[in-house]
Amino acid sequence: MRRSLDLLIDKDDLRRCRLVESEAPDPSDGQALLSVEHFGLTSNNITYAQFGRAMSYWDFFPAEEGWGRMPVWGFAEVAESRVPGLQEGERLYGYLPPSTELLVAPAHVSERGFVDASPHRAGLPAAYNGYTSTAADPVYEASKEDRQMLLRPLFFTSWLIDDFLGEAEVFGAELVVISSASSRTASALAHLLSLRDGVQVVGLTSGRSVSFTEGLGAYHAVLSYEELEDLPEGRAVYVDISGDAAVRSAVHRHYGQSLEHSSVVGATHHDRMGEVPEDLPGPRPTFFFAPDRVAARSAEWGRDGLEGRIAEAWHPYVSWTEDWLRVEHERGGPALLSTYLDLLEGRIDPARAHVLTLQD
Ligand SMILES: NC(=O)c1ccc[n+]([C@@H]2O[C@H](COP(=O)([O-])OP(=O)(O)OC[C@H]3O[C@@H](n4cnc5c(N)ncnc54)[C@H](OP(=O)(O)O)[C@@H]3O)[C@@H](O)[C@H]2O)c1
Repeated sequence: MRRSLDLLIDKDDLRRCRLVESEAPDPSDGQALLSVEHFGLTSNNITYAQFGRAMSYWDFFPAEEGWGRMPVWGFAEVAESRVPGLQEGERLYGYLPPSTELLVAPAHVSERGFVDASPHRAGLPAAYNGYTSTAADPVYEASKEDRQMLLRPLFFTSWLIDDFLGEAEVFGAELVVISSASSRTASALAHLLSLRDGVQVVGLTSGRSVSFTEGLGAYHAVLSYEELEDLPEGRAVYVDISGDAAVRSAVHRHYGQSLEHSSVVGATHHDRMGEVPEDLPGPRPTFFFAPDRVAARSAEWGRDGLEGRIAEAWHPYVSWTEDWLRVEHERGGPALLSTYLDLLEGRIDPARAHVLTLQD
């Protein structure tokens, strides 16, 4: 009998979490059991939990009533297959639960991977339902697995934001102001924007992370959240990765009518969010949802056209992160619980990232 281990989180109180052991499910015809090897954990996963109900992130990997399995990105191996064309031992990259096992119903099986067609996932964004075979993935490099798990979904988003801003000619602005500048999503965007002519990138971060963020060399200027009155003048775009209502208000009030666009991307400061007041100066903040942009660009270029463009930008980006991002590996339930709680409470060193496994 195969045992399965899952991290469950109380949907109403993200600080309450526990490990649960159970019997692993047996795949029926048309199903496969994946063995989750390892996965990355960053603030992005905390946001999945934070918006678990509002944006259906809990629905990918159902759990017992009131509890959720927070999605992570990682690698898995096909442990048992009752699907024609899907071989046991095949390795895949994709959206996984923080668990040892995942039962899937593979459809569109090819040498490139498959789509999980389990009924409960049918209405969820397609970008999260694909599993890519490592053997056929143009981005995959065995020596870079850690960085792929940790950074690929974030870089993907950053690339899409850069592409979105580029298509809009940066809304005519010369400044792009990014909050939570020390986050991987923000620094990847700054890295991409720094390759564009005529755009100055300003990072906003907490006091303790100013020198780290300056050291990345991707921002033209870095200010702490206490220095917002020193924001440079000019026509600006705001990319909000913190979700912090006070920071958003200060940026909007500073630029007023010179703020050309305000994009809501993340919520790292999940305990400092708030409604957008009616009298907020400048444009209304608009939510940037990466899967929507994936769908739009895939319709235009085809999925391969989009993936190819991102793959080209990915390799130099990953080499750059090797200068400043150290990856730490942790194993077992207690390590997963403490890493999750550290991320939730903001006990984060932006120079370190975590790869975890629940396997023995
Ligand atoms: N819209 C989309 O489609 C999309 C796609 C991908 C990612 N995102 C979002 O982008 C955000 C960044 O994710 P990431 O994985 O890149 O983050 P990360 O690298 O783990 O970010 C770490 C940074 O986030 C801030 N932070 C995190 N938790 C905090 C807390 N509890 N209190 C205060 N500050 C905290 C700190 O930055 P500072 O001190 O600099 O503030 C910290 O250095 C997430 O909210 C994620 O969901 C959105």
